[in-house]
Amino acid sequence: MARMEDFFYRELMKYLALAEQKRRWNPFTDIPYSLANPNSSQTLAQCVETFCAVEMYLPDFTSKLLQMIRRSRGRSWFHVNWGYEESKHSMTLEGWLLASGHRTEEERETVQNALSNFEWELPYEHPRQMVCYTMIQELATFWNYRNLETIAAKEKDIALITALRVISVDERVHYNFFRNMVKEWMKWDEEGTIYDIKYVFDHFSMPGRTQIPGYDEAARVLAKTGVYGPREYIKLVKNPVLEDLKLDKDFQRIESEEERTQKEAALKAALEDSVERIDINGHAVPKNETGRHPFNSHAVSQVQENLKPKRGRKVELPPTYPNGLKRSAFLDVVDIEPHRRTGPSRSIILDHVPDKLSGSRGMELMDSPVNQQLLAMGDELSNNAEEMRQERAQIREEQTATRRTRVKNNRLFRKHEDGK
Ligand SMILES: [Fe+2]
Ligand SMILES: [Fe+2]
Repeated sequence: MARMEDFFYRELMKYLALAEQKRRWNPFTDIPYSLANPNSSQTLAQCVETFCAVEMYLPDFTSKLLQMIRRSRGRSWFHVNWGYEESKHSMTLEGWLLASGHRTEEERETVQNALSNFEWELPYEHPRQMVCYTMIQELATFWNYRNLETIAAKEKDIALITALRVISVDERVHYNFFRNMVKEWMKWDEEGTIYDIKYVFDHFSMPGRTQIPGYDEAARVLAKTGVYGPREYIKLVKNPVLEDLKLDKDFQRIESEEERTQKEAALKAALEDSVERIDINGHAVPKNETGRHPFNSHAVSQVQENLKPKRGRKVELPPTYPNGLKRSAFLDVVDIEPHRRTGPSRSIILDHVPDKLSGSRGMELMDSPVNQQLLAMGDELSNNAEEMRQERAQIREEQTATRRTRVKNNRLFRKHEDGK
């Protein structure tokens, strides 16, 4: 487990460094929302709204999974960043729904309220199964957006094309991260991981299926347009995932074992009973028109420019520095080695003895002018700056009043002492 943890954390560092250097985009300024086509079809808007609804279960997905993996630094920190990236997807899709005039603010609020009435529960109980699930879901989402772009292109909606392309890059990167994790697990527990993958495939369903109002109808629209249905699931998701993991034979082996073993068959029946299977009526996939769209976007050009290969370290690094200390995943990405200190450097956290916490909120630490200045600066840059200003004024007033009372009490005390 320690080696897996080390792997996850190192991969996280690489992921974050690349994301910050090359992949960040701004959902408010990088999408030309003004170029949304107000005459685009209702079908297009319905597909966007369905995907937006799926993305809007992000709070459930992030909070519940975070609880499951909170002890893993690599996984939990990845998860938080992943949540940030996913939040931009739903914001952007919603932005398009509003900018195109397909939905009003009030309608979006109603949808949000309807969605929040139902809670999405994690579909699997084991963290590894959840990684397998998310891996599959990310690839499905990638193809959802790629196929949707075909319709957006036919309807000449530059805003949506831009949004879908940028989001697709994120989804692909997410898929690769999760796939990488699954592959690493397979190195340490091949049999168990393969069983998990198979189990997840057998019971796979996109998030929100039982929560989103009218999901069956929405799924029919997606399938009818060729954006996503059972055929796309097999052709674009299940088979490619198996190929990527080089798993075809193992799956056949597991399936034949299951047929022979009574115990396995009973288990399978019980599991099928407890989890609903995906059930969307599918239709043919239209030809992918990617590359033929009229297209011009700063965001995508920037991402593409960033993706051009640049010089990077390729050598396999030893696990420790020459002095025997473990290498830093973060510094390896930055491509430097730590300085050597001559003096001591004490860690308060490592040296900390529990149950000796001082009871205050640490307000004495905030007394220095620099701290006060930074606090005020942070307040001014906050979205509720006016409220924070009022709060600080109130604290100042209370402090002055307390000081006055203290002075008055001291004076009374001295008088009392003098009178004795
Ligand atoms: Fe997403
Ligand atoms: Fe994603």
